[in-house]
Amino acid sequence: MSDRPRPLPLLGTTRHGSRDAMTCLYRCANACDHPVPNTSDNPYFGDLVHAEVSRRGVVRAGAVGAMVLGFTGTLPDTRAAASAAANAPARPPATPTGGKGIGTGALTFKPIPPNTLDTFVVPNGYDHAVLIRWGDPVVPGAPAFDLRRQTAAAQARQFGYNNDFVGVLPLDKGGKRALLVVNHEYTNEELMFPGFTSQEALTVEQVKVAMAAHGMSVVEIERVAGTGQWRVAGSGRRPYNRRVDALSSTFELTGPVAGSSLVKTAADPKGRRVVGTLNNCAGGVTPWGTVLSGEENFDQYFVGGDAAPEADKARLARYGITTTARYRSGSRRWERVADRFDLAKHPNEANRHGWIVEIDPYDPESRPRKHTALGRFKHEGANVIVARSGHVVVYMGDDERFDYLYKFVSDKKFMTGDSWVARRHNLTLLESGTLYVAQLGQTSAAEVDGSGTLPSDGAFNGGGRWIKLVSGHRSYVDGMSAAEVLTFTRLAGDKVGATKMDRPEDVEPSLHTGKVYVALTNNTNRGVGSNPKPDEANPRTANRHGQILELVEDRTDHTAETFTWSLPIVCGDPADPSTYFAGYDKTRVSPISCPDNVAFDATGNLWISTDGNALGSNDGLFATATEGPERGHLKQFLTVPRGAETCGPFVTGDNRSLFVAVQHPGEITGATVDNPASTWPDGDYAKPGVVVTWRLDGGPVGS
Ligand code: FEO
Ligand code: CA
Ligand code: CA
Repeated sequence: MSDRPRPLPLLGTTRHGSRDAMTCLYRCANACDHPVPNTSDNPYFGDLVHAEVSRRGVVRAGAVGAMVLGFTGTLPDTRAAASAAANAPARPPATPTGGKGIGTGALTFKPIPPNTLDTFVVPNGYDHAVLIRWGDPVVPGAPAFDLRRQTAAAQARQFGYNNDFVGVLPLDKGGKRALLVVNHEYTNEELMFPGFTSQEALTVEQVKVAMAAHGMSVVEIERVAGTGQWRVAGSGRRPYNRRVDALSSTFELTGPVAGSSLVKTAADPKGRRVVGTLNNCAGGVTPWGTVLSGEENFDQYFVGGDAAPEADKARLARYGITTTARYRSGSRRWERVADRFDLAKHPNEANRHGWIVEIDPYDPESRPRKHTALGRFKHEGANVIVARSGHVVVYMGDDERFDYLYKFVSDKKFMTGDSWVARRHNLTLLESGTLYVAQLGQTSAAEVDGSGTLPSDGAFNGGGRWIKLVSGHRSYVDGMSAAEVLTFTRLAGDKVGATKMDRPEDVEPSLHTGKVYVALTNNTNRGVGSNPKPDEANPRTANRHGQILELVEDRTDHTAETFTWSLPIVCGDPADPSTYFAGYDKTRVSPISCPDNVAFDATGNLWISTDGNALGSNDGLFATATEGPERGHLKQFLTVPRGAETCGPFVTGDNRSLFVAVQHPGEITGATVDNPASTWPDGDYAKPGVVVTWRLDGGPVGS
């Protein structure tokens, strides 16, 4: 309407690739303006060349079955429910599903076109609703949101900012109640505080508001009867509703680094308790009913790296922390609130962030844990599958240009069943195990010229191996102790010759086929200047659009130390000859750019969300079959409003509800609260929020 501010125009592509400059400043502190942190010259192991393996079959039921059994045991709390029953909302199908018809599509929705509308667009026959938005009450009794009088105490009880990961865990047998678990990755102060001028000019209370707007939310939700729609449970005790944040929540360190001198500080001389979680990006729901959350771009929260001990500087720099100046561009200046963010005073504090966090949403009194056995890097997320042997395997990406792909294999085995004994046992699974980093071989190395032209053998593909870095307290990396390998995992990867990837974001195994999918977002530095050249897994120079990598463990064993891989999708405009969609007719696929998060629906189709579309459209969500003749038939399902990225996504086990997080709507250079680039979702100013989408006839989403 006329009294509403007019949205700002979208700006063109910048040197940051497709991301708006404000996104770069606030999300990753202008990482693209800083040198690539990985300056290692680890050799490319050209002799690691495996023959192409065509393995279109499915994994045996063992691994999948164990995972499904895991989900039958996700409800530990007798107050919550007796068990997760067959029609609970957030489970995979009740029986192992490998075999005919799995992941083969039947995605019948009509794709939506690319667009730049300041709205949330879904296909015909679907509807959507905002489930929860920034500032909505989470903890019962939380005050109503007041933009102009916001306080840290209020924010600490309200829904945080910039929702990213979304998980939905069942609370009853009937699929009527569930827990929504959401990450809050970072804050856009210019879009949160009227009159914003600079980070330095914020009041201390406003900095505390931003710190309280980070972290995670647990929110009870309920199904709108007879539909795929859900809403926040607005009354009753809601005992699970909870916030954790970067301001005051306490986390326990577990694993080999807990208690080590590397994580001891003046405030925590035992090195076991950390205040705050930072930049929680993506994550995953575990088979035992907890949520994993990745601490990603934690570097931007620290100052004083120039005055850190000289011996620490190379390690700090490898994680992107400035060591030549007190402040870097985009510094959040949190040291104004707590001097633990000043590395000149507390150089070990940075070592206490960059971990995988596990939170138990069914136990609101539980202390979330940071699991050091899974290594420290810019964790995008973490996704778990139970191997045939019973060990749990966690796949993880380090989201930075030229960084690595990892997996963790637990020492202990997953215990099935609904008992408290099983639950307590499974809660310890991520505290000890073996951490590996990936090294990818090539089948067509001589043909990779950076153009994206498909090699003559018809595939970007190869073999690979998982290089063992550390197992418990035993290091496999020369010159590094186990605690050092886990705390400075990037440096360990450098030493062993891990393969430098194009920003590994979500890494998620399909519970239907056992194949693992990796979203490689982009890397505009690939092959540019002295940066590493294209290789078969990262085949394009100045890669603006990214690719999807499919990894198949040898013997379909998730604990295997060797694998094969291929690129089923090389993203971009299908008219661009450098793109590839598993050989599918490119005139029939949707353009896609910058894949970020991946998820699977109940029939095994792959859903891919994007962050930073470099083709001019808003970001969105796409779906494709992974098997059969429809493999590669990628179609766009939704778009998010201007300036936003699409996060989540999460499809419920009954396939009737699709959740996505709309992160940083209106994050466009020059936008403010008073002059917003987006007015989604309420028509006034932009607010991040979680959306649920459903089919109007109540049928399965996508089909
Ligand atoms: Fe937070 Fe890599 O995205
Ligand atoms: Ca090849
Ligand atoms: Ca992401």
